[in-house]
Amino acid sequence: MGDMTAKVALVTGASRGIGRETALRLGARGATVAVHYRHSRERADEVVRAIVAAGGQAFAVQGDLADRGAVARIYEQMDAELQRRFGSPQFDILVNNAGEGVRKPIEEVTEEEFDRTMQVDLKSPFFLIQQASPRLRDGGRIVNVSSMGTRAAYPDMAAYAPAKAGLEALGLLLAAHFGPRGITVNAVMPGATATDMNKGASDPARAAQIAASIALRRVGQPADIADVIVFLASDAGRWVTGQCIDASGGQRI
Ligand SMILES: NC(=O)c1ccc[n+]([C@@H]2O[C@H](COP(=O)([O-])OP(=O)(O)OC[C@H]3O[C@@H](n4cnc5c(N)ncnc54)[C@H](OP(=O)(O)O)[C@@H]3O)[C@@H](O)[C@H]2O)c1
Repeated sequence: MGDMTAKVALVTGASRGIGRETALRLGARGATVAVHYRHSRERADEVVRAIVAAGGQAFAVQGDLADRGAVARIYEQMDAELQRRFGSPQFDILVNNAGEGVRKPIEEVTEEEFDRTMQVDLKSPFFLIQQASPRLRDGGRIVNVSSMGTRAAYPDMAAYAPAKAGLEALGLLLAAHFGPRGITVNAVMPGATATDMNKGASDPARAAQIAASIALRRVGQPADIADVIVFLASDAGRWVTGQCIDASGGQRI
């Protein structure tokens, strides 16, 4: 997927799971990576150290995307660090990966849970992209991490799936909007992936049950998703835009 030296990436939710694997891969290809986290300072620092130990460049940025002011604070940190390192706040790759998902059917979702899910999974990514716009270099990349729960019915994703579907709709129109600048916008739709977020996929007995609904007969690992994100973020993905790429091993096809 080529050399990413001279590219600068922001990966949200990079302290754990899919975001962590994405940050490590971008760093290994030479990109300077802003490793975003919410609470897991230690884990984010560990990702930064791993990238630096492998010869790359990285730094951590903090922000709870459930907070209204978080997006501005994340860019304040990014701007200061990029200005110090490169004399410019410009960057190339935004991976909107951080996400949360309350697993409840419609009858059980409170208004607070609905608002929080929309804030973290749709509104904050929206404003991360809005505020990235003047900072992204032409030829840049935006990759939004959605879910295959937007194409198959999971009744306990009553708030989560609509938020992710909104993110996919946003990506389509932004592909047209940013296309003249050479910026691609795509979504990746993971299926069940063994991370802290998906306790079922992380539990061997439950994972075996879930695997029965997956064509490739296993649950996903964070690396399976990260490789697709990095493809879209790389030069190899230059001719793909406005797409939602299913990365589920063929779950419920
Ligand atoms: N795992 C799956 O089965 C699956 C399936 C479909 C889609 N996805 C999507 O894939 C993406 C990554 O999920 P994952 O499974 O890798 O999750 P994970 O292992 O639980 O990691 C979540 C990451 O997002 C950050 N984060 C969570 N809530 C946040 C908030 N309110 N503000 C800022 N950062 C926040 C966490 O930071 P801290 O460590 O600081 O808390 C962490 O870095 C999410 O968008 C998720 O919806 C996952």
